[in-house]
Amino acid sequence: MLRKEFDKQIKDCMDGNLAAVKNDKWRNKYHIMAPIGWINDPNGLCEFNGEYHCFYQYSPLTPMGGLKFWGQYTSKDLVNWEDRGVALYPDIAEDKDGVYSGSAFVKDDTVYFFYTGNVKHAGEHDYILTGREQNVILVTSKDGVNFSEKTVVLRNEDFPSNMSLHVRDPKVWEEDGVYYMVLGARTVDDKGCILLYKSKDLYNWEFNSIPAGERDDMGYMWECPDTFKLEGKDVFMFSPQGIDAEGYKYNNVYQSGYAVGNFDEGKKHLELGDFIEIDRGFDFYAPQTFEDSKNRRIMIGWMGVPDAVIHRNPTIDNFWQHALTIPRELILKNDKIYQVPVIELETLRKGEAYKAEVSLEEGKTLEIFENNTFELNIDLKNCNDFRVSLREDCVLSFKDGVFKLELGKSGYGRAMRAVEINSIDSLKIFSDNSILEIFLNDGEEVFTTRIYNDSIDKCLKLEGTGTALIEKWNL
Ligand code: FRU
Repeated sequence: MLRKEFDKQIKDCMDGNLAAVKNDKWRNKYHIMAPIGWINDPNGLCEFNGEYHCFYQYSPLTPMGGLKFWGQYTSKDLVNWEDRGVALYPDIAEDKDGVYSGSAFVKDDTVYFFYTGNVKHAGEHDYILTGREQNVILVTSKDGVNFSEKTVVLRNEDFPSNMSLHVRDPKVWEEDGVYYMVLGARTVDDKGCILLYKSKDLYNWEFNSIPAGERDDMGYMWECPDTFKLEGKDVFMFSPQGIDAEGYKYNNVYQSGYAVGNFDEGKKHLELGDFIEIDRGFDFYAPQTFEDSKNRRIMIGWMGVPDAVIHRNPTIDNFWQHALTIPRELILKNDKIYQVPVIELETLRKGEAYKAEVSLEEGKTLEIFENNTFELNIDLKNCNDFRVSLREDCVLSFKDGVFKLELGKSGYGRAMRAVEINSIDSLKIFSDNSILEIFLNDGEEVFTTRIYNDSIDKCLKLEGTGTALIEKWNL
């Protein structure tokens, strides 16, 4: 279909539904959401000519996730985002069933966007072994907002013969004058893996290797691969599907995580350490990273998981669903990634902080919240165990080496997520109208969840042993 026709459909849809979206009490204040309809993966993250770009998987025509476009937001500060509407439309034969996920690569005065063009053929197909095309498509831009014609750089026949038709989500980087591209893939015998391609000019790509995957214990498909260096080490981040739950681990339908690794000389093999879940909450998937001009490795994730059946998002009644996380800076300490909310988020703080010192033994209720948009910092260095309750029925507790996040009715099916952890020195909570992002020990562990309260609960309740220091900012 032509762009003009898509624009007409989107306009009609907005005329009918935008008021419901905007009036929803669960719309968030400082998190990226689709202007209308559905959002999933962050795409094409980059800083270009002094501006941050956050593209995203966008289904403007339905909150349930239908045909995918790339929507676009830009920002000067990673906090205030300007809606730039639809950037890429599914308007050629090679992407007619979706402009799927991909990334941005900045070189000199040009941004190169690589994404997956999804095509589904009519007929009787399983769309795994037959009936699908996943094309790697390149689009360039000289200003970040106007885009070139599309060039198909890889097709299914360019992938190794033991691959199914699920090969997607290109991420490109440069090393020693050579360009590399990783793709997430599913083999014909249902094993997740990555493919690595090499190029001298960003247009012609040659197969290099299957550096990791094809294992019995790591799922049937690896989506959204990303490789980058932290502290001189190769980190590989990806979203595997098909890993079984194991105690408190891997409780979501699909996972997202990383392994610290090492590429060999010819990048034929990526030696991987243990797979570690990057976020322990209910709503996190398909993260992407980029390096900004301050040399920070910044990650944004999708606050949602595909095919989630146990919990739901009541916002679909108001024609929108899902959001993206706040940008988090990644720091490697002892082969573990710590996630730190970018410092720019401090500009959201309004007025003076509320501060208090609380003895937990007595149990204490502080009436400190005016609304649900706040940052809450709790210093717990002098506490052995604790139970913190907020927002009607959300309980954060630590006892016997286990931290738990529990939700009641406001979780709409989200009940409990937990992590084993030796001690907890601090909690940092970013709360938005229907979101909590909870950082333990300066980002050692993170829990991201949606939460749907019917009313504002002003109270923070604290119990446990020891003394806690509270700091709260209105945002
Ligand atoms: C991950 C994902 C990607 C795909 C995109 C489609 O959530 O399934 O693998 O490119 O979403 O929207």
